[in-house]
Amino acid sequence: MTVATMAVSQAPVFALEPWMRSRLEQVERALDRWINADEPKGVGHAAPAALVEAMRYAVLDGGKRLRPLLVMAAHEAVAADSTQGAEAALRAACAVELIHAYSLVHDDMPCMDNDVLRRGKPTVHVQFGEASALLAGDALQALAFELLTPSEGGVDCVTQARLCALLARAAGSGGMAGGQAIDLASVGHHLNETELREMHQLKTGALLQGSVVMGAYCGAPSPVALAALQDYGAAVGLAFQVVDDILDVTADSATLGKTAGKDADNDKPTYVSLMGLERSKTYAQELLVQALHALQQSGLTNTRALAALADMVVNRAH
Ligand code: IPE
Ligand code: IPE
Ligand code: MG
Ligand code: MG
Ligand code: MG
Repeated sequence: MTVATMAVSQAPVFALEPWMRSRLEQVERALDRWINADEPKGVGHAAPAALVEAMRYAVLDGGKRLRPLLVMAAHEAVAADSTQGAEAALRAACAVELIHAYSLVHDDMPCMDNDVLRRGKPTVHVQFGEASALLAGDALQALAFELLTPSEGGVDCVTQARLCALLARAAGSGGMAGGQAIDLASVGHHLNETELREMHQLKTGALLQGSVVMGAYCGAPSPVALAALQDYGAAVGLAFQVVDDILDVTADSATLGKTAGKDADNDKPTYVSLMGLERSKTYAQELLVQALHALQQSGLTNTRALAALADMVVNRAH
């Protein structure tokens, strides 16, 4: 048994499956409702049906929904009761998933990783063409911010503004998009460990950490809890991409729902290419320990879903 699994197994047993099932139901229902062509948007016209079809294809029916689950678990850890900030948390959960889905659509395009399989289906540009994929990604990004700024309902203006700022920062040039730029510029190059860590923290870690922090802000976090959850999010975010690099080598395409072995084919620097498979696996377990330690420092009592999600990130099969 590893140190990390010992740390997890010492925690009181937590039934992650039923917890996840009820949160995922809410998220799926909300995504299905919010990505639609029915209601007039923008200047008052309905959105083009073909564009909405590509957006729905990119988001619905697939994906582990890890980022929404992190938002909801962080919110529940901080909120005084289940109603405080619940509307904001559901909107934040869906908004981060929309940003994530858009990043995958663009990541798969021929100008980036040139992938044909995603979530067990043909990628969006294969199914709908490159221009539609580009626009579906653009529109999903915009929709994410629309979800965070409802004109009516239970999200106060300060929370709306804070959530928008956090998501913009996590997704932009100092976050996901910046990391993707480094990723593309690094093809065929050797990165040292510091450079690789920075790339992974930006391209993947920022949105995962952002999910945790956004969820926390939907409650009313103390400064100590917020700092600890930031540390937790940073560790889980980095661990997530380390494991993604490992699975690219160890899992098959049917299990992953995306093409295995792409990193080596595309000559990408990864944790596996830098430190080998075994050290990468050990490093992922070390990051899990860091994440669990951060939860212990938080002063929060309701962190078992967050702990179980960190364990799932590191020990997942796809
Ligand atoms: C894959 O993310 C892309 C990375 C950021 C490494 P996920 O593994 O979370 O993809 P889905 O959402 O489950 O398809
Ligand atoms: C993608 O990283 C990260 C983002 C989409 C921001 P990868 O290129 O490793 O993701 P996969 O392996 O295609 O899912
Ligand atoms: Mg990529
Ligand atoms: Mg890729
Ligand atoms: Mg990958």
